[in-house]
Amino acid sequence: MKIKSADFVISNSDVAKCPKEPLPEYAFIGRSNVGKSSLINMLTERKSLAKTSGKPGKTQLINHFKINDNWFLVDLPGYGYAKTSKKDKKTFQKYITSYFEKRKQLVCAFVLVDIRHNPQKIDMEFMEWLGVTAIPFCIIFTKADKLKPKAIENNINTYTDQMLSGIWEEIPPFFVTSSTNYMGRDEVLNYIGNLNSDFFSEKRGDYI
Ligand code: GTP
Ligand code: MG
Repeated sequence: MKIKSADFVISNSDVAKCPKEPLPEYAFIGRSNVGKSSLINMLTERKSLAKTSGKPGKTQLINHFKINDNWFLVDLPGYGYAKTSKKDKKTFQKYITSYFEKRKQLVCAFVLVDIRHNPQKIDMEFMEWLGVTAIPFCIIFTKADKLKPKAIENNINTYTDQMLSGIWEEIPPFFVTSSTNYMGRDEVLNYIGNLNSDFFSEKRGDYI
């Protein structure tokens, strides 16, 4: 899929104020600093469409970006950032969960995990919550430029083995990406393109 346009639309903390258009959307979620905002910039080839930072906790709101005038990418705050005050942390969790529970336009969540790390409890718990809440999701491994191919393979195997030894009977679709060298860009965009085609052919928009 070609990206012809990518425009910031709105930031807010209230799911009720998100764009009303019945267009398909895809949300990026994961630990703070995992690379959610960087991935949005990489996919859209816009250097600073989404704000990024070396320090965790940069994205603090629900941010809608309209792509090719007919679908949305959503950048969300990260979870698991210990330095956020307890009160703020609660607010994040509340509106993140409320976004996922209420947003009918959401076609698929992309859960980002840093490919260098062992499976983290908080990610596993979040994916389990998506599972029980019946929200389709994929995994995006980020920062693959930091590892050699063999280590990438080993870490993916460790990850998928752990999922299969837990509650999962099958592994969700996953992608290996790098926002610095564009690895995985075509694969993620093609996946979204196919889901968009299904969305529009089923005319899901009619009943949103
Ligand atoms: P929050 O908004 O705080 O939740 O973080 P985020 O998940 O949006 O992370 P962000 O995109 O701001 O990136 C965090 C840091 O990781 C930045 O310093 C990025 O430059 C770096 N980074 C992100 N993706 C990659 C990648 O694919 N490769 C490398 N080497 N660095 C990356
Ligand atoms: Mg961010």
